Order: sequence, then C-alpha cells, then structure tokens
Amino acid sequence: MPTIRVSPDNVEVAFSPKANILDTLLDAGVPIDHLCGGRARCSTCRVFLLEGLSNVSERTEAEDAMATKLDFPPRVRLACQTTLADSVRLRRLVLDKTDVLLASQLGTPKLAGPAGREAEIAVLFADVVGYTKMSEALPPFDIVHLLNRFFSRTDDVVARNGGIIDNYMGDAVLALFGLHGEPDPALSAVRCGLAVLDVASELSHYVERIYRLSFGVRVGIDFGEVVFGVMGAGASARETVIGDTVNVASRLESANKDTGTDMLISDAVYQLTGDAVTVGERHELDVRGKLGPVVAYEVLSVDDPSDQDE
Ligand code: FES
Repeated sequence: MPTIRVSPDNVEVAFSPKANILDTLLDAGVPIDHLCGGRARCSTCRVFLLEGLSNVSERTEAEDAMATKLDFPPRVRLACQTTLADSVRLRRLVLDKTDVLLASQLGTPKLAGPAGREAEIAVLFADVVGYTKMSEALPPFDIVHLLNRFFSRTDDVVARNGGIIDNYMGDAVLALFGLHGEPDPALSAVRCGLAVLDVASELSHYVERIYRLSFGVRVGIDFGEVVFGVMGAGASARETVIGDTVNVASRLESANKDTGTDMLISDAVYQLTGDAVTVGERHELDVRGKLGPVVAYEVLSVDDPSDQDE
C-alpha cells in the first residue's frame, strides 16, 4: 500500500491518490499547519520531499505562484496543493511544539478560524496630532484621561457607523468597516472619519480650556483586501487584520501632515463612494512599499448628514 512517511512525527500514513497531502495528514491526526485553509495563500503547510520527488503531482498554478514568490526549491511543496502517485517520505517544515501549540490555539472556536479569512473592507486610521508634544507637557495620568475621553467618543461614532474598533495603538485608532458584510463599508468609513474629526474638534475646546494646548486628529482611509485572523499566542492571542490596506490607511493618515489636510481617502474609497462624498484636492503620494504614486483625496463633506450626528 502506498504511504507517506512523515518526519519528525515518525508516522506512516496510507493515502488515496485523490486526496492531497494536507488532507491525508490531517485525517491521520498529523499536526500540520494550514493557516489559509488549504488555498495556497500561506506557506505553513509546506513539506520537504526527502524521497519520492518523482511521485508527486505538478505544482498547481496557485502553488507555482507561491513557490516563485518564496523561492521554493523543487523539493519544497505545499501539502495542500500536492497529490501523490506513489509512496514518499517527507518532513513537515513547521515543526516544533510552539508551532503546533500555535496552530491549535488558532483553531479555538471563539476566534476567526484556524486560517483567518480574507475580506474586502474599509480600514480607518485616526491618530492624534502633536501627541509627542502633549505627552511632554502633561503628566501621564492626564494623557490617559485625554486619550480615554477621545477613545470613548470615537468608539461611539465607529459603532454608530457600523464599524468595529480593531485596536488602539498608543494615540492611534484602527477601525474596520464591512468585516461582517455590512453594506457600503467605504461610505460608512468616510462618514465615521468626518465624525471622528468632529469629536476631535469638540475635544480641542476642552483641551484648550483645561490645558492650554491644541488637540487635533488626522484620518486616513483605504479600501481593499485584508486577512482577518489571530495574532499572538496564549491568553494574548487576539483577532486583527493584516494587509496592504491597513498599511495604506496608516500612510494616508500620516500623509495629511504633508498635504495640510485632516482626512485623506484612497482612490479605491473615492470610487466606491461616488457622488455621496465631496472631495477637495487630488494628491499623488509616494507611499513606502508601493510602486508608483498612491492617489488620495481630501474629504470635504459627505451626504446624509443625519447619519453623522456627532
Ligand atoms: S494551507 Fe496555506 S498554503 Fe497550504
């Protein structure tokens, strides 16, 4: 009977020519990672063919793309994309106990799933202007007080616009729209962004009066694909998003410094929001990690002001 001998587990598993290596090993209880769920979108199921290279299937198109990207040698294969014609001996390349523990934590039911999932969403980044100066001028407890005042109002407007707060990072907020299929995520994010600016404007009066300091916020919004999954381990594991869309939203937020604006949206957001949003100047920005300029627009206003009662 044709088999797969697996290192370092030292097990031998019978296989069907119809099943791929990943499914075969999982059915046999071999703890092989598969974070994208077997779609050739990660490389955690990779194996090294110790013997029987001629018995494995050709790379699929999807595997070929990943192999090119990560420069796999011929003996490194994605288990989820590979079937067998005869016996092989292979080594799992995600190996140690930490990897296995991590994989099992990723599968806990409260989380997004063992693989995380892809989604097309709007990502909003908001950051406090002049935070460093503020934190030098004020005692830390006052900074905590101010930020919490800002965050609690922001939390409210994000929720009212159908978004969720993904994370607070120091003085910054990352909010997501459309993660659970809510309609018009780009437009909701723009509405929310303007509402966040209103929150900051109201708060600035308070900060000026109490502390004699100015307070403002900058916002950047992009729309695109992200992977929503679990980061971290053990009790600190949490769901978050990863992807270029998050980076671009963050870069747009900081680009407001150069453009002299409070809120920039990407061209993708602009295209999705159509006539509902009135924009100002168009900017072409150099964004680290992007080939070519990123087109961005300042937002002046958005339709349906009854949705932005902040
Ligand atoms: S499980 Fe992600 S590539 Fe195979």
